[in-house]
Amino acid sequence: MAAAAVASPSHAFSHNAPAQGVTARATYGDWRDDLIRDGYVVVKGVIPRERALAYGDEFFSYLEHFAGGLGYKHGELSTVLEKNLPVMSEKGMIFGYGINHEATAWNIRQEPGLISVYEKLHDTPDILVSFDSRNIQWPNRPDQKANTPWPHQDQDPATANQFRCMQGLLNILPNGPEDGDLIVCKGAHASSEEFHRIFKDEPDKVWSWTHEWYGFKPSGMKWLEEKGYEWVKPCAEPGDLILWDSRTPHYNVVPTGKSPRLCFYTCYGPVTDASNEQLKKKKEALESTTGTTHWPNALYVGGLFPMRDGERCKYDTGKPRKEVELTERGWKLTGIPYINDA
Ligand SMILES: [Fe+2]
Repeated sequence: MAAAAVASPSHAFSHNAPAQGVTARATYGDWRDDLIRDGYVVVKGVIPRERALAYGDEFFSYLEHFAGGLGYKHGELSTVLEKNLPVMSEKGMIFGYGINHEATAWNIRQEPGLISVYEKLHDTPDILVSFDSRNIQWPNRPDQKANTPWPHQDQDPATANQFRCMQGLLNILPNGPEDGDLIVCKGAHASSEEFHRIFKDEPDKVWSWTHEWYGFKPSGMKWLEEKGYEWVKPCAEPGDLILWDSRTPHYNVVPTGKSPRLCFYTCYGPVTDASNEQLKKKKEALESTTGTTHWPNALYVGGLFPMRDGERCKYDTGKPRKEVELTERGWKLTGIPYINDA
């Protein structure tokens, strides 16, 4: 079958566009200017508030009925216990259970308002979506270890001179100053190349399972501070999208108020960023309902199994509850129609 035709992405946010996304002048007159300047932006109301809240309800229902219902009750913080829930990290990530391919995740990925933001960002309709996870965090969990800060960037320091990936999360619940979520080092993506030139040979680097991740040590944090950069926590309403350049230092914080934090990671990139082999990996990932990281071009597929009491969680079938259903647009977003079998 012939591969779908591909339109070229914009220069400002395209893969391997040296120095673009940092030095480009602010000429858009919209949120893209903020994104270029600050390395992150909150795009307001990309999907209707009520629909975002409905997606939240779907997820809390999923949790209440998980494995037939283990005891979690939405709105009752005392039931927020690991024994009542799918296994998740203290950082709020859920891996396994085919959760990245649950209907809610796909319905969100296929939201027209969300897709149009990325089409505008990349200036092309030919974009791919990651099969990424979601994040749920509650305040004051008694049986979870502390979520200590792990400031990092999700891009190989050797490529810090170029924009490569726009990360994104769709915010689901009202998210104010006390409600946890992402925090970012505002504008520090612009000094990423300089930073890594200086810290290239730093001793005892923070361990990473991939070269596409870098952890900031106290000395690096001090450098950012002395350079004048500040850490900020963007606030967001249900249906808002937070975007950030992969070079922008970031991590997340647990809510300290009364409400949980819930978001879905939604990263879309130009088809031109993916090789034919990577598109084939996307196909395999969809067919096996395996997740990816935030990279839409399937740089990484699969991951760790959820572990409960020292072994793979017995509730992890690796499958979502229903088969994935895609619209025509959603099918293109998988990248599969762009595979060249010639
Ligand atoms: Fe990250």
